[in-house]
Parts: sequence; C-alpha cells; structure tokens
Amino acid sequence: MANKMETIGVLTSGGDAPGMNAAIRAVVRMAIARGLKVKGIKKGYMGLLNEEIIDMQPKDVSDMIQRGGTVLGTARCLEFKTPEGQKRGAEICRKHGIDGMVVIGGDGSYRGAQALSRNGINTIGLPGTIDLDIACTDYTIGFDTAVNTAMNAIDKVKDTSSSHERCSIIEVMGRNAGYIALWCGIANGAEDILLPEKYNFNEQDIINNIIENRKKGKTHHLIINAEGIGHSASMARRIEAATGIETRATILGYMQRGGSPTAKDRVYASIMGAKAVDILIAGKTNRVVCYKHGEFVDMDIEEALNMTKNISEYEFEVARLLSV
Ligand code: ADP
Ligand code: F6P
Repeated sequence: MANKMETIGVLTSGGDAPGMNAAIRAVVRMAIARGLKVKGIKKGYMGLLNEEIIDMQPKDVSDMIQRGGTVLGTARCLEFKTPEGQKRGAEICRKHGIDGMVVIGGDGSYRGAQALSRNGINTIGLPGTIDLDIACTDYTIGFDTAVNTAMNAIDKVKDTSSSHERCSIIEVMGRNAGYIALWCGIANGAEDILLPEKYNFNEQDIINNIIENRKKGKTHHLIINAEGIGHSASMARRIEAATGIETRATILGYMQRGGSPTAKDRVYASIMGAKAVDILIAGKTNRVVCYKHGEFVDMDIEEALNMTKNISEYEFEVARLLSV
C-alpha cells in the first residue's frame, strides 16, 4: 500500500562523488515545488542512526551545484548492515516524520535502501559513484567528472614523461572495475591499458610492447593501470629493470573524487534527483533510478543488484587498436 508522502529525507552514502550536491539540490527543490517538506540526513546511515537530521529549504541548497563532494557529508556505517540497525533507522525516520527517503550512493548503499524499504520507509536509490560499477545503469553520478579530472592530470604527466623519454604507469581509481581506466586509456591515447576485467598478469607482454614502440621511435610509453590491479610502483621497478627505460609510477588517488562537477554530472544528477521525488510521490518504493539506452528509468532494487555488467569487448578492442 502506498504511503502518503508529506516529508522526504535525503542522504548520501559510501564514497562521495562530484554531482551529489546537484542531486541533493534537485531532491530538495523538486520536493518543495511539489508541496513536500524535506529533511537532510547528515553522514549517510551513520548520521541517520545518530539522528543528525536537519530541515532543508530551497535556499539551503543555493550555490552548491558547482561544488564537489557532498554538503550532507557521507560515511560508512557497519551498524546499518544489521537488522537491528536497519529497524532502528526506520523508527528514527518515523519519529522525524520522514515517509520517504532518497539514498544517493553505490551498490552497498542500495542494500541499505532496500532495508529501509523493508522496514516501511519508501526508499529510492540514485547511482552515486565515480566507478561506474553499478550494473543497472549506463551512467553514475560522478564518473564523468572523475574521468575528466584524471584525463587532465594524465595529460600533464605525459608531457614530462615525453620530455624525459620515460615510461609512465598511471594508476586510476575504480575499485574492482576498469571503467575509469578504459576511458582514460582511450582519452589519453595510452599504449597499454590494464583493466581488472581483462588483465592476464603477463608483464612480459607490456615489456615487449614498450621495446617494440621504442624501436618504432615512440619517445614515451603510457600505461594506465586500474586500482583493481594496483602494484604500480613495483611494476615500474620491474619494467625499468627489464627494458632499461626509466619508468615512473603515479597514483592519482583521491583527486579523482573531488572537484567541480562537469555539466553532464550536474544535469544528469539534477534530473535523477527530481525523478526520485516524483517516483516517491507516485507511491513507489524499493526502486533505483537508472540511465539506460538514453533514458532515465526506474527499476526494482533487487533486480538492479542481481544484474551484472562488463567492459565492452568492442571498446576494449578499439582502445587496443588505437594505441599503436
Ligand atoms: P557504496 O554505496 O559506495 O557501494 P559501501 O559498500 O561502503 O559503499 O556501502 C555504503 C554503506 O551502505 C555502508 O557503510 C552501510 O552503511 C550500507 N550498506 C552496505 N551494505 C549493506 C547491506 N548489505 N545492508 C544494509 N546496509 C548496507
Ligand atoms: O568508490 C569510489 C572509490 O573512490 C573507489 O574508486 C575506491 O576504490 C574507493 O572509493 C576508496 O574508498 P575509501 O574512500 O574508503 O578509501
């Protein structure tokens, strides 16, 4: 039976991602435009259990669409993985008059959203992660910004690497997924792209490629290595020893998660935030908003969590063939 929506809550959970603020802003302003009240929950599920809950008005989300991070803060919360924690979270929602919740985060946060929904709070998830590793959607809030940030940083490393005729290994984020690495690999014209989904752990292939490229007159060799493979520093030492070519490793790290969101992240996050509110008003629960085949759609969380996705074979082949 659909709960009548009067007040909705919004929280961000898991790793922050640029564009989360645009999504929060959209939830707040759309809900108020539709005649609802909004409460912001600080620091994800941890803030919910600690009752860090604030009223939000349209002016509270002014001047933030362009800012990275999340103004609500985010956290990881073990207690919310327990049935007791989840039940308490739902009770706290009821105590504060929250009938519906928008959770912005990754797969783990969706599990929490499912739990809230099971415990009687209508809940909708939005895909917020730089990793693009949520199977149900072709777009996640933050990926576009993270890739552009990494691409710009890699261009800079490539300049100095070329000047010194070095080999560079640049490690990008992505947890166990290689999407950031694949995109940077193509966008930066890397000679080798190492993805957790594809890597055969045969370093000799890379070494042969470097030697081959030197013979062809290439003055640099750029390897994009995904965090899911890691070990960039030791890889650099082994490659230098085997090729005699100076090799440096750079781990881009958290810079990829910060910074002002791109237009795409601002716009898509805004549409997703607004759509989450309309889905709640329609009485739906236990759904996630996805971007699929050029459209914003919603889907059951369980169905979304059971989906799998992988690196496109064609894109990987293109990346390999263009790096000659
Ligand atoms: P992400 O949402 O980016 O995948 P995490 O996996 O760290 O990040 O999950 C974020 C938070 O979501 C966790 O700290 C926890 O509070 C909650 N969460 C994760 N898994 C579950 C689960 N199985 N049940 C309930 N809550 C969960
Ligand atoms: O999920 C986003 C992400 O930045 C991953 O790319 C990375 O593996 C992870 O979060 C790092 O998490 P933490 O902030 O806990 O170090």
